[in-house]
Amino acid sequence: MRDKLKSFFTEHWKYMAVSTACKINLFDHLQKAKTAKQLATELSLNENNLLLLLDALHNADFLEKKSDLYKINSFSEFLTEDNPESLKYACLNWSGEHLTAWQNLGFSIKTGKSSFEKIYNKPFFDFLNDNPEKLHAYHKAMYQYAKDDYKFLPDIIDFSIHKSVMDVGGSYGAILENIKAKYSNVECVLFDLPKVIDKATIPSIKKIGGSFFEKIPNQSQAIILSRILHDWNDKKAYLILKNCFEALPNNATLYVIENCSDKIKIDLSLLSLNMTAMCESYERTSTQYISLCENAGFQFHSETKLNELQTILMFKK
Ligand SMILES: C[S@@+](CC[C@H](N)C(=O)[O-])C[C@H]1O[C@@H](n2cnc3c(N)ncnc32)[C@H](O)[C@@H]1O
Repeated sequence: MRDKLKSFFTEHWKYMAVSTACKINLFDHLQKAKTAKQLATELSLNENNLLLLLDALHNADFLEKKSDLYKINSFSEFLTEDNPESLKYACLNWSGEHLTAWQNLGFSIKTGKSSFEKIYNKPFFDFLNDNPEKLHAYHKAMYQYAKDDYKFLPDIIDFSIHKSVMDVGGSYGAILENIKAKYSNVECVLFDLPKVIDKATIPSIKKIGGSFFEKIPNQSQAIILSRILHDWNDKKAYLILKNCFEALPNNATLYVIENCSDKIKIDLSLLSLNMTAMCESYERTSTQYISLCENAGFQFHSETKLNELQTILMFKK
């Protein structure tokens, strides 16, 4: 038992080694086998310490090693920039400010406030807005997760019943890209903060920049709110929902996609702690989401599972 505990204390070292490798583009440069010396020259790194990192990555099964040549394997190929199924930015996402927020989780537990906000003096999305590189990296991470998570959404929901659909807080538009691929006649509108919209590149989609706390444009017969409400406390979530309500015509549909803790077998308590530290929020149950939406005027219609984690809650105005 004690030995298990001792190794548990340093389990994060492995992730930190992998995330450091992503940060210095090591996996991208090891698509062809190279020695530590070759790689150190190519990336201007300290050869001795690079060798320590390469061996750690090899021992953790993230690199293949033949004599003194290192190369990516079937695992780390997903951590290269150009892999169409890359998770490089998803990997990097957790080792920056998220980690700092976790290191200060005690503050959140004591005060009920976000430790991120205490350290960086502003809410997470304002911080991203002021740091273009971090904003881009975060949204690339969201896109990489979203490509998997929303793959089956257009098969589960018949979007052809709507003339137009708006994804509110849709990041770089992965959901709409999937919907458009199956329902080319549905008009798709992406709404997010202006700096996010400026960088979103998906084709055939109308893009509108703005804040969901101010006004959501009156543009569609259905709104998708996916992984939005879980970023905000009840008061802020209510404001977003009220603005969605005002943006929609009567009989329109609201799709809320979230990890509903009562609908899945997976334990969400650590994710809730992450949300608390980052955004003063938490993972809710479906009943809590339904009551939030009903308070804003929506009528609950039905629910369906999207994947192992996420549930789609459907509401009518
Ligand atoms: C957790 S991400 C979810 C992204 C996407 N919906 C998904 O499921 O992958 C939260 C999104 O809310 C957007 N967002 C944050 N504050 C916003 C605001 N005030 N107005 C509009 N969008 C906002 C962020 O830019 C980001 O795209």
